[in-house]
Amino acid sequence: MTAQPQTPPAHVGIFQLLNGAHVAAAVSCLAQLGIPDLVEAGPKSAEDMAKEIGTDPQALYRLMRATACVGVLSEGPDGKFSQTATSAVLRSDASPSLRAFAIMYGRDWHARGLSNMEHCVRTGKQAMEKVYGSHIFEYLKQNPEEGKIFNDAMTQISMIDSPAVADGYNFDGIHSIVDIAGGHGLLLATILKRNPQMKGTLYELPHVLEGAKNGPLKPVMDRCALASGDMFSSVPAGADAYIMKHIIHDWPDDRCIQILKACRKNVNSGGRLLVVDNVIHPGNDFSPGKFLDLQMLIFPSGCERTEKQFRDLFAASGWRLSRIIPTAAADSIVEGLPA
Ligand SMILES: C[S@@+](CC[C@H](N)C(=O)[O-])C[C@H]1O[C@@H](n2cnc3c(N)ncnc32)[C@H](O)[C@@H]1O
Repeated sequence: MTAQPQTPPAHVGIFQLLNGAHVAAAVSCLAQLGIPDLVEAGPKSAEDMAKEIGTDPQALYRLMRATACVGVLSEGPDGKFSQTATSAVLRSDASPSLRAFAIMYGRDWHARGLSNMEHCVRTGKQAMEKVYGSHIFEYLKQNPEEGKIFNDAMTQISMIDSPAVADGYNFDGIHSIVDIAGGHGLLLATILKRNPQMKGTLYELPHVLEGAKNGPLKPVMDRCALASGDMFSSVPAGADAYIMKHIIHDWPDDRCIQILKACRKNVNSGGRLLVVDNVIHPGNDFSPGKFLDLQMLIFPSGCERTEKQFRDLFAASGWRLSRIIPTAAADSIVEGLPA
C-alpha cells in the first residue's frame, strides 16, 4: 500500500501565516544588527559575532537559528552561520540592498501602524493621525532619523524598479521630464542616464530635496534641476512628460486628482503622464500589491488601484488612459495622454 500524502490540518496554515509577524521582525532585527554584513567574509559563530556587535550570545544565536529556518542565513553542523542569497540582499553594500527597507519594518512607528489595522479597517482612516496626530509625511519631516530610514528605503526599492521602468518604456520624443515627488532621484537619474537627449527636474518637499543634493542625480546634474514645492498646489511648468512612482498609491482619489490636474495644466502640447504603480487584479490570485495596499491603508491613506480605477482617476483629471505597460518589476507604467 502506498502512503497517501497528508494534508496538514487547517490550523497549521494559520500558525504559519501568523508566524509571518515573527519572521518579519527577525529579518528586520538581523538587518538592524548588520549580521549579513558580518557573515559576508565567511561563516561565524553567534559567540564571535556577539562580542563584535555587543549582543547577548544566546539571544543572537536564537535570532539567527530562526532566520536560518526560513532560508535567511544558513546554520552549519559546527553551529556557525553563513550567508545565503537571501541574507546577502540585506547587506549594506548589496545591489539592490533591502537593508534600510527591512530596518524600516522594525521601527516603532511602523509597528504601531500595523497594530492599528483594525482602526483603519473600521474607519477607513490611516493610523498615523490616531497614533501621532499627523500624516506620515509630516511625521517623517518632524523625525529626521525616521525620515532618513524611510528615504533610504525608498531609494533601495528604486534600485529594483528604476531600471525596470527606464528599460520598459520608450522615452524617444521626450525632451523634458519632471519626476513628481521623486524622493532622492534614483528613478530620474536612471532615466536621464539612458536618454542623453533629455533634461529632468526632480520635484520634492524642501527637506527631502536637501537629502537629494548628494544623491544619485550627481552624475547627471548638468541636465537636471531640483525644484521644491507642494504637488497638490503646483508642479513645474512646461514638461513633455510628468512621471510619478509610488505617489498615486499614497493618496485617496480627491488628492490624486489635484496632482494629476496640476500636471495636465502644465504639460507641453502632445505631452504625457506616466504613473508608475502596481495595477491590481481583483480576485484570489496572489499579488504582493494586495499587501502593499494594506500598507497604503494604514500609513498614508492611499490604495493600490485596478485598471478601471486608474481610468476613472485619469478621466476626472483631464487625462485619457492610453496604455498600461508592464515592467520587469512589480510596477506597471500607466500612460496618460491629454483628453
Ligand atoms: C512613497 S515616497 C516615493 C518616492 C519616490 N517617488 C520613489 O518611488 O522612491 C513618496 C514621496 O512623496 C513625497 N511627498 C509627499 N507629499 C508631497 C507633496 N505635498 N509635494 C511633493 N512631494 C511630496 C515624499 O517626500 C516622498 O518622497
